[in-house]
Amino acid sequence: MAAGKGTRMKSARPKVLHLLAGRSLLQHVVQTASALGADRIVTITGHGADEVEQAISAPGLQFVRQMPQLGTGHAMQQAAPALHDEGTTLVLYGDVPLVEASTLQTLVEACGGSKLALLTISLPDPTGYGRVLRGDPAGRDAREGGRVCGIVEHKDASASQRAITEVYSGMMAAPTAALKGWLARLRNDNAQGEYYLTDVVAMAVADGVPVVATQPGSETEVLGVNSPAQLADLERRYQRARAEALMEAGVRIADPARFDLRGELVCGSDVDIDINAVFEGRVELGDGVRIGANCCIRNAVIGDRAVIHPYTHIDGESLGVTVGAGALIGPFARLRPGARLGDDVHIGNFVEVKNSTLARGAKANHLAYLGDATVGERVNYGAGSITANYDGANKHRTVIGNDVHVGSNCVLVAPISLGDGATIGGGSTLNKNAPAGQLTVARAKQVTIPGWVRPMKKK
Ligand code: UD1
Ligand code: MG
Repeated sequence: MAAGKGTRMKSARPKVLHLLAGRSLLQHVVQTASALGADRIVTITGHGADEVEQAISAPGLQFVRQMPQLGTGHAMQQAAPALHDEGTTLVLYGDVPLVEASTLQTLVEACGGSKLALLTISLPDPTGYGRVLRGDPAGRDAREGGRVCGIVEHKDASASQRAITEVYSGMMAAPTAALKGWLARLRNDNAQGEYYLTDVVAMAVADGVPVVATQPGSETEVLGVNSPAQLADLERRYQRARAEALMEAGVRIADPARFDLRGELVCGSDVDIDINAVFEGRVELGDGVRIGANCCIRNAVIGDRAVIHPYTHIDGESLGVTVGAGALIGPFARLRPGARLGDDVHIGNFVEVKNSTLARGAKANHLAYLGDATVGERVNYGAGSITANYDGANKHRTVIGNDVHVGSNCVLVAPISLGDGATIGGGSTLNKNAPAGQLTVARAKQVTIPGWVRPMKKK
């Protein structure tokens, strides 16, 4: 269910499209449903339907629209025609993103294709939630172990019902054919004038269908997002769990409260991650890698023992970035898509590398740009030097041989190549190839004017 408005988010964006760990709330739910091997995933949209339907994808996903939104039961009525009669329907909320596949598996198994299974939990403060009513068949109240006989919404509940702490999470698994029959009989004569999906519980009991309840591993799994504060709370819970799993595997995280993973992080042994690192997409860190404070790293493979110093930004986008073993990167370095750095490469402060290969031992330590370049082994690329790779219309390559020394403040106008062992004098602007093994200088000769006098102010 993803039709609701999410008024308390105070946002133009549909609530279920707000991001948690870099993925929309609804995408989390849809991916969990996919992980269960669902036959089909039907998403009920309403508010912002066009935007939501554009943003979400999964195999076998289809959308039905609910306009206007007349309650959770009404939402399910819209979905009913899309569901096969044989089989089990699992109801999930698009704004409850952290439910685990294993919890849902247990819920589906409890349904067993014939019972109505509810995911319930006891909360110290159950305010606002539907309360789970239990009683034995003789009508005597038997909370402990008593059978589930209904759900009453908070707004419809009596004072004694409001004292019940077992609440309905909003997730249920039901035999589809029976569910369709109950949905057809829902009424809206209640405190909110809505069609409540929760009324199917009493109908199941009346039909002699057993109603069972299972519980999630933790409260986090059933928490919904209604406000920016709740979104931030769930984000931190999610990140804490990711950090704990990595630490469990031996990764040393300086402060798990200042760690963010928005994708997948694969770590070797003896990895150290300082504070405020943000990992996105897929990132691999080899054995002994050190990540300094305040680094953002996306879609990259970092080799064994490489050190990424603080404030480095690495973004592989779709091409990826690779950093060789023992490389030293940063502080304040920027590696862009297609940067392929060999072993022991050094990239220092304010150096940008894009779509370029640097062979083993090459160094660019200060204030430089390498774009569309192939750089040989042990090259020393001076401070302030750049590849002028763009002529205003097309990109061109720069090829730098092994053991080349490029002085400071050079402009290499591509296409151009510098032969093995060439030395380029500082301040040169080159637009022709430089031969191997020789000094090439392209700048005005230094002159000193004898007897020159500084102008004086006229009186
Ligand atoms: C619902 C349950 C309540 C449960 C609680 C758990 C009902 C009647 N009540 O209450 O027992 O404790 O969830 O959070 O089901 N939605 C639609 N279309 C609608 C109405 C809602 O798609 O017409 C979606 C919302 O976007 C949301 C979900 O269904 O994702 C739940 O709706 P919400 O209004 O939050 O239900 P509650 O009143 O909280
Ligand atoms: Mg709600």
